[in-house]
Amino acid sequence: MDKHCKFCGTAEQEQKLKAVIEESRDMPGCLMHILQEAQGIYGFLPIEVQKIIAEGLNISLSEVYGVVTFYSQFSLTPKGKNRISVCLGTACYVKGSDKILEEVEKQLGIKCGQCTEDGLFSIDSCRCVGACGLAPVMMINDEVYGKLTPKMVKGILDKYREVK
Ligand code: FES
Repeated sequence: MDKHCKFCGTAEQEQKLKAVIEESRDMPGCLMHILQEAQGIYGFLPIEVQKIIAEGLNISLSEVYGVVTFYSQFSLTPKGKNRISVCLGTACYVKGSDKILEEVEKQLGIKCGQCTEDGLFSIDSCRCVGACGLAPVMMINDEVYGKLTPKMVKGILDKYREVK
C-alpha cells in the first residue's frame, strides 16, 4: 500500500479515543476492543492512531501494529464514502473478476486498498460474498452488482458520482 490519504484526526476524536482507552485498559482483551472503537471513531487505523493506543496502554507500537495487520476487519487506509469491493473468490475469479478490478482501478485512478483524493470511492477486494451465481460480482456499499463486464463498470460508478 503505497498511497495513504492524509491523516487529519480532530482533537475531539483524540479525546474520545483516550476516554475509551481509559475506560477499557483493565479489561481482558482490551486491545481488540479499543481498536474496534478507534476504527469506529476514525474510520480507519493509521499509525498516528496506533501510537495513541500504544502509549495509552503502555505497550509497543509494533504490538498494536501486529494486531491491526493480522485482522482483516482493521484498515490502515481510509475508506471512501462509497466502498467498492470486488469479489476475487474462485467463482468470480474464473469469470474474470480480476478484469473488473482492473477496470475499476483504471476508472478511478487508484489501486485496490486505496481511496480517491476526494474521498468518494475506495477499492478493496473480498472473497466470496455468497452470490456466486451472479459471478463476477462487486459490491458498492450494500449493493451487489453481478454478471459484470468491464464495460459496465463506468456506468455503475457514474451513478455514485452523481449522488454526492
Ligand atoms: S466467489 Fe464471488 S460471490 Fe462467490
